[in-house]
Amino acid sequence: MNAFTLLKADHEKVAGILETIAETTERAVKGRDELFAQLKAELDLHAMIEEEIFYPALEETDEAREITLEAYEEHRLVKQLLAELEAEPKDTEEWTAKFTVLKENIEHHVEEEEGEMFKKAREALSEDEIEALGDRLEEAKRQNKAAAAA
Ligand SMILES: [Fe+2]
Ligand SMILES: [Fe+2]
Repeated sequence: MNAFTLLKADHEKVAGILETIAETTERAVKGRDELFAQLKAELDLHAMIEEEIFYPALEETDEAREITLEAYEEHRLVKQLLAELEAEPKDTEEWTAKFTVLKENIEHHVEEEEGEMFKKAREALSEDEIEALGDRLEEAKRQNKAAAAA
């Protein structure tokens, strides 16, 4: 499994959920609750496999180190926003505003990953290494889902 293919598929799934939430209103709290829980579960797992498997491999390379250190910081901000959004009532304009900022942050982060970071990763890593990373990412997701279902 190619690491970039796997991560891009995750990004697309998250983008779809973000768009769906963006279309909800303050009156549709139950829908928002469910969609937000789904979004948070996807993002938690995605961030976890990036931080434990993908980013450490890139951090070691001269080419991708800087952009990877930025990415960790962007994850930290996204997690902060997610925690606030989870804790706050979802029927307010403030929640909607904060959600819009989260969405923009994630879109910016994904653009940098799929652009500059993947480009530098291709320069720094061999095809075999990218495949091996993809296998590890896939396995980590599988194990996490199996543990969650148990
Ligand atoms: Fe990321
Ligand atoms: Fe990502």
